[in-house]
Amino acid sequence: MAEMEILYSGSSKVVYKGEGDDIFIRFKDYITAFYGIKGARIENKAKMNCCISSMVLGYLNDNGVATHFLEQMSDTEQRCRIVKHIPIEVIVRNVIAGSMARRLGLEDGIIPENTIFDLCLRDNELGDPLINDHHAVALGLVTYEELKHIYEVSAKVNALLVDLYARAGIKLVDFKIEFGRAADNTLVLADELTPDTCRLWDIATEERMDKDRFRRDLVVCAKRMRRWHNASLTNLTSNSYA
Ligand code: TMP
Ligand code: ASP
Repeated sequence: MAEMEILYSGSSKVVYKGEGDDIFIRFKDYITAFYGIKGARIENKAKMNCCISSMVLGYLNDNGVATHFLEQMSDTEQRCRIVKHIPIEVIVRNVIAGSMARRLGLEDGIIPENTIFDLCLRDNELGDPLINDHHAVALGLVTYEELKHIYEVSAKVNALLVDLYARAGIKLVDFKIEFGRAADNTLVLADELTPDTCRLWDIATEERMDKDRFRRDLVVCAKRMRRWHNASLTNLTSNSYA
């Protein structure tokens, strides 16, 4: 791994070029928020996020959602397909929280009648601004036809993940996904699906089990988090392929 070409190096993972159309993603024990303003090392985060993302993306692959994920190689490494990233973040919300609650002056926790889909331009310097379909097309990032497909896949991912997490006693509040174009030009889900990119609340207590703990400086309870995630992983892996 040490001699492989680095394609991307970010705060929480490094991407290496593999053979042919393969890439290797190595997760790091590091977390950032607010576009790098806040950062910290979290022991075992790489292992947890790699395991969670591998399991979730494997589950999506098995259920007919094309993702870039091929296999988990080690505790902290995945083999994936190379894709050309589309710089759009698709946010799916089942419960109003975070930036939507702030922007519209709403309380966290309101359940809307309909599922909400937001698009953000992936641009750290601009703070990932909210855009709409017409912006995305005008910027030349996607076609209207591709957007239709992206919304359909996002809704399917949401249905599958709401069910998966519910079986582990977790409410999927919202999440962010990204898409890329594979070598054959088809759109596939790329990047990670972890507690860094989702809001996950304990169904019974509504306790936060995701990156909001870090964003908001909620009491750091690493042992408890580890217990939660280990329990969730066990539940998810034992139930999800049933
Ligand atoms: P938001 O409340 O900040 O809009 O975030 C909604 C969800 O999307 C939340 O689960 C965090 C995730 N997200 C990312 O993973 N990366 C991002 O850059 C943004 C803006 C949101
Ligand atoms: N994209 C932002 C960041 O990772 C949003 C967040 O706080 O998660 O810094």
